[in-house]
Order: sequence, then structure tokens, then C-alpha cells
Amino acid sequence: MVFFRQKNRDLSDKIDKNKLPIHIGIIMDGNGRWAQKRGMMRFYGHKAGVNAVREVVKASRELGIKYLTLYAFSTENWKRPKEEVNFLMDLLVEYLSKEVDELNKNNVLINFIGDISVLPEKCKIEIDRAQNVTKNNSGLVLNIALNYGGRDEIVKAVKKICTKILNKELSIEEITEQTISENLYTKNQPDPDLIIRTSGEKRLSNFLLWQSAYSELWFTEVLWPDFGKEHLIEAILYYQTRQRRFGGV
Ligand code: IPE
Ligand code: IPE
Ligand code: MG
Repeated sequence: MVFFRQKNRDLSDKIDKNKLPIHIGIIMDGNGRWAQKRGMMRFYGHKAGVNAVREVVKASRELGIKYLTLYAFSTENWKRPKEEVNFLMDLLVEYLSKEVDELNKNNVLINFIGDISVLPEKCKIEIDRAQNVTKNNSGLVLNIALNYGGRDEIVKAVKKICTKILNKELSIEEITEQTISENLYTKNQPDPDLIIRTSGEKRLSNFLLWQSAYSELWFTEVLWPDFGKEHLIEAILYYQTRQRRFGGV
């Protein structure tokens, strides 16, 4: 234990505080495989994944990250068996009801991105509470991507923009990249500097498609329930070795 703490401290000492990613996005993948490897049902993996969420949120606060976006449930995850979907929804309710007060004490602002309008009522109640209780906080902004899909987000933005045009609040000539950004769930937030995906898969799976145009990507074989502060630090150290050119020289 002491050894691990020491190791984390040594590693975080290597982080250049002036070059921190402002916004980190995480595709939390591998819960099912984590459980299957142990001969357990997938559910156990999701439960164990909550501990990793807790640890990573805490580590992000400690390291001074300003925005953290966690991909919790995609628009495609409805394809899973009903029992698994229900379990994930219940887990969300449990996580929020247990953690919101602590997160609030730690000045975390909780924000949901995705279409929450179609979620079960019990989820919507906890989501509203989480957002209301923490809305004036000025610390870490924790975006939870729930029933989120990058393509769905863009479709919704297009519809909003079209409505504004029909209402003559906007002309076609006035549409810029900024117009699109302002009509996404992440409006007023910086694009992610760093996107992390666990479990060895190297794809975005519909995560922050518009916003990730110039994100640095970091992949690890580690399965989500095993992910901890040391891995987050490792990802940030990798990020700090990258030269970001944004198309320049
Ligand atoms: C990520 O783990 C959690 C969610 C997508 C909700 P998975 O459930 O996708 O785990 P694997 O990829 O099957 O191992
Ligand atoms: C991506 O993981 C979605 C979340 C982490 C919430 P998936 O497990 O759903 O992605 P695919 O199916 O492997 O692309
Ligand atoms: Mg998966």
C-alpha cells in the first residue's frame, strides 16, 4: 500500500503542471471481460467498474484536471440484453445517490451529456438532483455521457440549427464550426485534449466525434475495473510527450 502511494507520488512528480490536459475523455471499456476472466457474470465487472470511476474522479481533482468526460452508456448499448441494461441503469442510480453529496463537498460540477429524456424515471430523478445540487460548483466538471452518441449529438445539433433558420434567428451564411460546437451537449466546454480508452480496443465507438478532431489518443490493455490513478498519470505523461501541431508546422 505504502509502496503504491509512493509510486504514484513519484510518477505525479513527473507531470508538468503547466502542460496539463484541460479536458480528458475516457471510454471506460472492458468491464464484461474483467468479470468473465474471473469466471463471473458481466454484472460484477460493472460493479467493480464503479470503484475505478471513484478513483479516477478523485485523481483528476487532485491532479487539477478541469473537465473529465466519462463514457458510461452509448446510444448503441441498448442492443445489450435487457437485464444488463437494467443493471447499468440501477448502478447509475446507486452511484449517484451514494456519491453526489461527497462530490458536491469536493466542489465537483456534475453534468450529463446524451439524451437523458428517454431514460427510466428513477434515473432522471437522480440526474436532476445531481445537476441541481452541484450546479454552482467551480471545481472539476464531471461530464457523464449517458445514452450518448456522437452521431446522435450531431443530428440533434443540425435539427436545432435548422429550427433557428426556420425561425429566422440565423441565416445559412452565418453557420460556422462555432455554430455546430455551440449546439452540442458540450457547448461552452473546451474540446478534449486527451482521450483514453481501456481494454485494448482502438476505436472511438461514437464518442465525442466532433470534439475529438485534434485530441491525443491513448490506449491501454488495462480493463476498466483495474484502471487507477497510476494509469491516469501514465496517460497524462504520454500526452505531455506529444507535440500538438493542429495542422501547423
Ligand atoms: C464497458 O464495459 C461498460 C459499458 C459499455 C457500459 P463493457 O461492458 O463494454 O465490457 P466488455 O467490452 O464487454 O468487456
Ligand atoms: C463503448 O464501449 C461505450 C462505453 C464505454 C459506454 P462498447 O463496449 O459499447 O464499444 P464497442 O461495442 O466495443 O465498440
Ligand atoms: Mg465493451
